[in-house]
Amino acid sequence: MNERDWDKVADSFEEEIFNVPANDSRGIIRNWLDSLATDEAEATDLGCGVGRTLPLLADRFRHVFAVDVSSQCLEVAAKANPGRSNITYVHADLSKDRNSYPATDVVLCINTLLNAALEVREPLVDRTCRSVKKGGHLLLVVPSLNSTLLTAYRHLQWNLRDGMDAREAQRAAALNGKGLEHGIVHIDGVPTKHYLREELEAMLTDRGFGVLEIEKIEYPWTTEFAEPPRWMKSPYPWDWFVAARRTK
Ligand SMILES: C[S@@+](CC[C@H](N)C(=O)[O-])C[C@H]1O[C@@H](n2cnc3c(N)ncnc32)[C@H](O)[C@@H]1O
Repeated sequence: MNERDWDKVADSFEEEIFNVPANDSRGIIRNWLDSLATDEAEATDLGCGVGRTLPLLADRFRHVFAVDVSSQCLEVAAKANPGRSNITYVHADLSKDRNSYPATDVVLCINTLLNAALEVREPLVDRTCRSVKKGGHLLLVVPSLNSTLLTAYRHLQWNLRDGMDAREAQRAAALNGKGLEHGIVHIDGVPTKHYLREELEAMLTDRGFGVLEIEKIEYPWTTEFAEPPRWMKSPYPWDWFVAARRTK
């Protein structure tokens, strides 16, 4: 999705875009923010959208840079946080612009590195990493490729339990395979980058980060299927949460 696409969803963001922080039932993101916050530290919300995580950051850090490619989303975010004078809103395309905000101690980046095109995603990842001060921390949430494959398996199981023959059950549960080997999964027709745990480790290590923790943020099956059957329980679908420290 490009700038215009994100502008278009600004007013219907809550209905259309899955709310990660609201579904982080174990409080993984909040706990990490608590452990990194100090009176002096500054933070950035990269791809802040309509500003769901801005209160979390603004309450804990001296100053917060809310960065997004969509001016419409930034407008909604600013309206939602009128009393918070320690937030600076920055309109920037991370895949193109020179950074118009400083590197900060903590960078939170939730489901922003989704672009399927490598020529867009690589600069996006590079600039995300350079937005962290040396010695600072990156808190990253990205879709999990493993979780997508688990969902396909659950779909297959469900089809078999419903009595489909093996061939039909597999066909009906198949993913649109175009780009799957590079982690590209089509969500409502939008090609979306998904990640392996090992890929995240390599991606961040190559860019001078030490990975401190990789966790699952787990969601109920209703996030994948409108009416999942009662037997469909753990393991649940998830996004990857990564905490990493910039060492170089
Ligand atoms: C899935 S939304 C997530 C928003 C927010 N982090 C949240 O969790 O609610 C992705 C956000 O990334 C922003 N984004 C996508 N590509 C970007 C880019 N190249 N530069 C800056 N922001 C970008 C979009 O405008 C959108 O607001």
